[in-house]
Amino acid sequence: MADNSTTDAAAKSSRASGHPVPVREGEGGDHSLVDGKGTFFDGQPTVDGVGGMVMPALGFGTYKLTSTEARRMVAEAIDLGCRHIDTAQMYDNEDGVGLGMVDAGVDRDELFITTKIDNSNHDPADLVQSFDRSLVDLGTDYVDLLLIHWPVRWQIINATLAALVQVQASGRAHHIGVSNFTVDQLEQVKGLAPLDTLQVECHVYLQQHELRRWCNEHGWAFTAYTPLVRGAVFGDDTIRDIAAGHGATAGQVALAWLLAQPGVSAIPRTSNSEHLIDNWSARRLRLTDDELRRLDRLDRGDRQVDPEGAPWR
Ligand SMILES: NC(=O)c1ccc[n+]([C@@H]2O[C@H](COP(=O)([O-])OP(=O)(O)OC[C@H]3O[C@@H](n4cnc5c(N)ncnc54)[C@H](OP(=O)(O)O)[C@@H]3O)[C@@H](O)[C@H]2O)c1
Repeated sequence: MADNSTTDAAAKSSRASGHPVPVREGEGGDHSLVDGKGTFFDGQPTVDGVGGMVMPALGFGTYKLTSTEARRMVAEAIDLGCRHIDTAQMYDNEDGVGLGMVDAGVDRDELFITTKIDNSNHDPADLVQSFDRSLVDLGTDYVDLLLIHWPVRWQIINATLAALVQVQASGRAHHIGVSNFTVDQLEQVKGLAPLDTLQVECHVYLQQHELRRWCNEHGWAFTAYTPLVRGAVFGDDTIRDIAAGHGATAGQVALAWLLAQPGVSAIPRTSNSEHLIDNWSARRLRLTDDELRRLDRLDRGDRQVDPEGAPWR
């Protein structure tokens, strides 16, 4: 399917933000793959999972957006050409995401929608019932990806995963995965269900080499959350210096670094329309090997999301 929206988005981006970025291979007419990415989804590079999952590499996150904001921003993101939307029961905005999808007017099968099971819904009956509510709120018969949000009830993980598999078998979740699991936990669950994705915090300051290597070795997709370090990248001298050389923003450089990593997708969030256009344009930015190495050196184990009871504590 042709992706004229990418050209439109780039044009809008230059106009609105003054941050034109070089064209990235793998979109538009030339369908050669971007390094480390899988196939294509609506003309966009993807990250593919061992279970046949095809996830657009650059998506849109909705944490902290109210339903009203989520509706507006999701519609705008889809209008720009973004096809991958990330929400969660915990975000209390699935209804807004659903309405944004309706407003955008794109066929359901052109979208990749992820939601996550809340920490309070790990009991199998709760998981199934709460997921039914999620589908109603999202206004869809299925999600593309359903995740366990946090490994908070390890004593019943087998039953929780069995319920996840049951939902998948019903056709209401095309793919299933986990979030915020450690390598040790991935090792324990990998044979229990046909999981094929991990979503964790990952960015230039927390590069997650071990988890990324594990996912690459097992054919799992890896989704980087908090990719902009919640805005901290905009004050970083190294990132700003690299950005200046491309006429880009620091946020675009931080996202381009993630998208240059094999098997990695990123889901930046914004409530601002101009920021959305900037972020969406990041997929067209190609960093040099030297710039990628400079960004590699920023790794410092700096976490934004570190709640009480997190499995790495
Ligand atoms: N699985 C999990 O446990 C988990 C945990 C955390 C996050 N997530 C997912 O990952 C997504 C992204 O993470 P996040 O929302 O925590 O953080 P993030 O995307 O790293 O950063 C969001 C912050 O950056 C700002 N921002 C975004 N684009 C900008 C731009 N172009 N210029 C200037 N500022 C910009 C936003 O402010 P403005 O609104 O003003 O633009 C917001 O304050 C979430 O929305 C959620 O979907 C998952």
